[in-house]
Amino acid sequence: MNQRRHDPERIFDLDLVRCTENAALAAWKYFGKGDKNQADYAASDAIRGMFSLIDCQGLVRIGEGRKDDAPGIFTDEKLGAWQEGAIPAAIALDPIDGTTLTAKGLPGAISVLAVATCKSPDDDPRKLFPSIPSHYMEKFAVGQAVTESDVRVQLDAPLETNLSIVAGQLHKRVRDLVVVVLDRPRHDEIIKNLREIGCRVRLISDGDVAAAIAPSLPDSGVDAYVGIGGSPEAVIAAAAIKCLGGQQFCRIWPKDEQERNRLLTEENCSEADLNKVWNVNDMAPGDNLIFAATGISDSPMLRGINYRDSHCVTHSILMRARNRTVRHIEAYHDLKLKTVRLHSTGEEISL
Ligand code: FBP
Repeated sequence: MNQRRHDPERIFDLDLVRCTENAALAAWKYFGKGDKNQADYAASDAIRGMFSLIDCQGLVRIGEGRKDDAPGIFTDEKLGAWQEGAIPAAIALDPIDGTTLTAKGLPGAISVLAVATCKSPDDDPRKLFPSIPSHYMEKFAVGQAVTESDVRVQLDAPLETNLSIVAGQLHKRVRDLVVVVLDRPRHDEIIKNLREIGCRVRLISDGDVAAAIAPSLPDSGVDAYVGIGGSPEAVIAAAAIKCLGGQQFCRIWPKDEQERNRLLTEENCSEADLNKVWNVNDMAPGDNLIFAATGISDSPMLRGINYRDSHCVTHSILMRARNRTVRHIEAYHDLKLKTVRLHSTGEEISL
């Protein structure tokens, strides 16, 4: 059998890291400069540019920009070289998760993507990542040790019950658990509840892809992620959590009555769809899955970009679901030689 068809992931997995590296480097140009749209545009341009060199027929299933009108890479966009016979692939990505963090020069921003390849050129990539029609989802994410418990954590169980399962599995006291929550008024009750339970709450202002993945990573210092965040971000995080053996439960969270009505009428959702609890296998089905991310600024998942002498250093993670191999890639880019390919101009630009 043709090796390229048989295991296309091995052919282009490193190129996917080049995509997030280049996006992070392009975004870095605008780090701390106050303009999140410019950073987002630059990162998207760099991802499109790098993808144009990758031998796949990529279809964006999960793009960004649903919840605001930011520039970005959108659902149904084609990425890749699209040569005849190339393997079809579904893509879930966020050129920058944490655009505001990037603009404000704060920690927690990453560039991130997940790619699910079809088993054969005739398969439909639309089946590989679900399109979630809501802006937000409720989320609860934990690491692998917690999934091995006989008593399961559940989205609808009281937080206290879930956290005592987490503590038991991690051999920690509940008061030593670190739970990450997005700092939003909609989470006031959850934060109050967590503090009453006695655990430590780490509030983040943005960037819940890295936050949801963190409990699945050894040494992240995060034991659980709880709260309501973006739906596209939930799917992207699910791909990574699956590669790491953790779990994330999610449910559509209409932000108001108007969105609820839109979901029921325009999106043809049933009440059952609105109540469905999604796990990582629902959101990232199959095993032909690769996840790549590069840190823009430091997060519980990845260190951010830094400059040393004549080099720029990036930290990335590359994972496959099939055998759960996790690769950490520290790359030194020579400032005199490194270029980033832009889609908008077709040019390679220096850092
Ligand atoms: P962007 O960087 O794409 O703007 O997303 C940042 C983010 O914090 C996500 O990580 C999170 O899922 C979502 O926004 C939360 O949405 P909101 O800011 O509307 O609460």
